[in-house]
Amino acid sequence: MIDAKKLLAVALMGVISASTVYATSNDALVKEGRKVFVTKKLGNCLACHAVQGDPSIPQTGDIGPKLVNLNTYPKEYLFDKIWDPNKTNKNTLMPPMGRSHKITKHQIDALVAYLQEITKAK
Ligand code: HEC
Repeated sequence: MIDAKKLLAVALMGVISASTVYATSNDALVKEGRKVFVTKKLGNCLACHAVQGDPSIPQTGDIGPKLVNLNTYPKEYLFDKIWDPNKTNKNTLMPPMGRSHKITKHQIDALVAYLQEITKAK
């Protein structure tokens, strides 16, 4: 028979280890950013990008480059890239998520917080 207590303990361990990954001061923003990154109706970034540092995300997006070391980029560069990538690359395949009002400025700030947090070398 399945031991319910054991199951609960294992489930709790999963929750705790997942949350320690984001145990930073901008915790809430980082969590929100992850949601925007993976949600199809929001950023849907994972459709095109693999990403360093978050193995829970399917690493199958290969239209854009794998997102690495973004903690070393200026925040403004990342914000502008997500707002409208045509600014820095006229021939980009990446859609202008902010300029087209698919996601809000706040959601872009959250994405930047998330991407800079997870791509930190650990
Ligand atoms: C339709 C595919 C597609 C989607 C969806 C997409 N991207 Fe991109 N992205 C690209 C391509 C192609 C590039 C490389 C060309 C360029 O820099 O514009 C890129 C470049 C980038 C870069 C620059 C990486 C570097 O090292 O310079 C960042 C950051 C980025 N994307 C983040 C995102 C985020 C965050 C989302 C979700 C809001 C997203 N992308 C959605 C295709 C996509």
